Amino acid sequence: MPDVQTQKQGPLARFLAMPPDSTPKTVFIAVALCLVASMIVSATSVALRPLQEQNKLIDKQKNVLQVAGLYEPGMNVLEAFSVFEPHVVDMATGTFTDEFDATTFDDRAAARDPELSIRLTDDPAGIGRQTKYATIYLLRDDDGNIDKVILPMHGYGLWSTMYGFIALEENGNDIFGLQFYDHGETPGLGAEIDNPRWKALWGGKKLLDDQGELQITVAKSAPAAGSDFHVDAIAGATLTSVGVDNLVRFWMGEAGFAPFLETLKAGDI
Ligand SMILES: Cc1cc2nc3c(=O)[nH]c(=O)nc-3n(C[C@H](O)[C@H](O)[C@H](O)COP(=O)(O)O)c2cc1C
Repeated sequence: MPDVQTQKQGPLARFLAMPPDSTPKTVFIAVALCLVASMIVSATSVALRPLQEQNKLIDKQKNVLQVAGLYEPGMNVLEAFSVFEPHVVDMATGTFTDEFDATTFDDRAAARDPELSIRLTDDPAGIGRQTKYATIYLLRDDDGNIDKVILPMHGYGLWSTMYGFIALEENGNDIFGLQFYDHGETPGLGAEIDNPRWKALWGGKKLLDDQGELQITVAKSAPAAGSDFHVDAIAGATLTSVGVDNLVRFWMGEAGFAPFLETLKAGDI
């Protein structure tokens, strides 16, 4: 039974008077430690967020440089990226819009925004919603003529949504390169979409045939249209390859950038 002196003390004094290995003190220390640790983790995460966003942006810009064949290890990415001319394209009309600032427009956020995107009923790329606006990058030669155009694309692979870019020559039909900058496919299998040897297969391929039909295909065997339009599927990663086929054909088709490529071919840019 507690003595009269202890009963007279307040709860804090009684708590402090307990032995260090008592259950209340042990629980208190554990809870206090958890609180302090979680506050440190949260504060660090908030403090590092701008840096993470900056690094993501630099990585994306590095990939745009890579797909355009301009990246060199060690280069100042932010500086090198200034050669590109970003524009926001109205996907339906295939023309540029001034409604948004192309340097800050967030394509991924737009694709989630019900105001800026539409729900797809026919959805071969497995993206759910299609953005009404997308940021593209023009690269001009020294005379100011369009040299290349870099278009964003995304679509589902086997495990993940794969985000990337396709670089087209000024004619809007010849492929210069293809590059993914974000995906969750399996290393050694689906992640071979990052393998430079596989990416090199895209250079020189064409989107449309002479009749204007979309023919580019990723498949195990060449389509009837011929090798100008065929990229070999990755061995052991047919499902990711099918995902790439679906997304490239979606984004290069009518629901994707076909209206913009028509504008480009007409010389209206
Ligand atoms: C753990 C695991 C991870 C896999 N990851 C991938 C992947 O990222 N992409 C892919 O296409 N196939 C992946 N596969 C293989 C697929 O299940 C499937 O076998 C393959 O796509 C068929 O390709 P193939 O016809 O060239 O053999 C994975 C299989 C396993 C067991």
